[in-house]
Amino acid sequence: MNTFGGDWTKIKIEILVEYAKAYLTIMKDRKFFKLLYFDGFAGSGFIIKDKKIDVDVTVGAARRIVEISEPRSFDFYYFVEKDQENFNLLEKNTKQAFPKKDIFPVCDDCNKKIIDLGNYLRNPKNKNVRTLAYIDPCGMQVEWRSIESLRGLPIDMWILVPTGLGVNRLLKRNGQISDAWLEKLEVFLGLSREEIEKKFYKKKATLFEDITIVEKERDAIENSAKLYKSRLKEIFDFVSKPYELRNSSNAVMYHLFLTSNNKAAERIGNDIVNKYNK
Ligand SMILES: C[S@@+](CC[C@H](N)C(=O)[O-])C[C@H]1O[C@@H](n2cnc3c(N)ncnc32)[C@H](O)[C@@H]1O
Repeated sequence: MNTFGGDWTKIKIEILVEYAKAYLTIMKDRKFFKLLYFDGFAGSGFIIKDKKIDVDVTVGAARRIVEISEPRSFDFYYFVEKDQENFNLLEKNTKQAFPKKDIFPVCDDCNKKIIDLGNYLRNPKNKNVRTLAYIDPCGMQVEWRSIESLRGLPIDMWILVPTGLGVNRLLKRNGQISDAWLEKLEVFLGLSREEIEKKFYKKKATLFEDITIVEKERDAIENSAKLYKSRLKEIFDFVSKPYELRNSSNAVMYHLFLTSNNKAAERIGNDIVNKYNK
């Protein structure tokens, strides 16, 4: 079983489910479209939070989406989960629990499957498929080249970006970032280390002409959210305002965005995000 998360775990699922219902309402009478739900980090079907005194069980996003039958269901569901134990539970909690629905769980890496999804949707045979995707990693697992592979496709995608918990943590204050961390940032943002350094660091002159100090710019979390949003806007026509997931000290850990090539999606996404950001 998955054991992670705080109240925002529930809120991000509510955001997704609210959007999915609005999406299915719009698609209800458009029978010529086949609707695919794709979840890249599907978990086990349930999220368990052990608060020592009591145990809090939340129905995970994958199962919540499968449970929807009104205004209509999705036509098929594709769930990716890399961890074998979670995958076994996921299969039991979705495919076996809902035998009448077309559910395809796979135990694999999300990046590989996002690229497969792009190829599938680009195939002219599948031109009537419309996709709602949910990309909910706990860390920096999503590679930029995977997101890039979705350019121009009929996908609405909620994507959780680890701005505070991921990017900001790797950006050391004095700029002395290890090669391994720089490589991680490069793969995640799809930018060169020179570009990353330029975005997040400034050089300060000292009394001595030949010595400059490298200093991290302020608001690195906010800047990384702006940067990731601008990267997403290179791939998708519309990107919603982000929902900010904060910890108990009010620090931002993640930003959740909706991307789409459809203006109406952005409007609906913004309405939902505004409601939950309050
Ligand atoms: C934040 S949890 C997902 C929770 C889920 N969305 C839910 O609502 O129940 C992230 C999940 O992604 C899985 N995971 C981690 N790296 C992965 C990868 N590269 N590809 C696919 N799944 C991965 C983890 O095992 C974990 O179950």
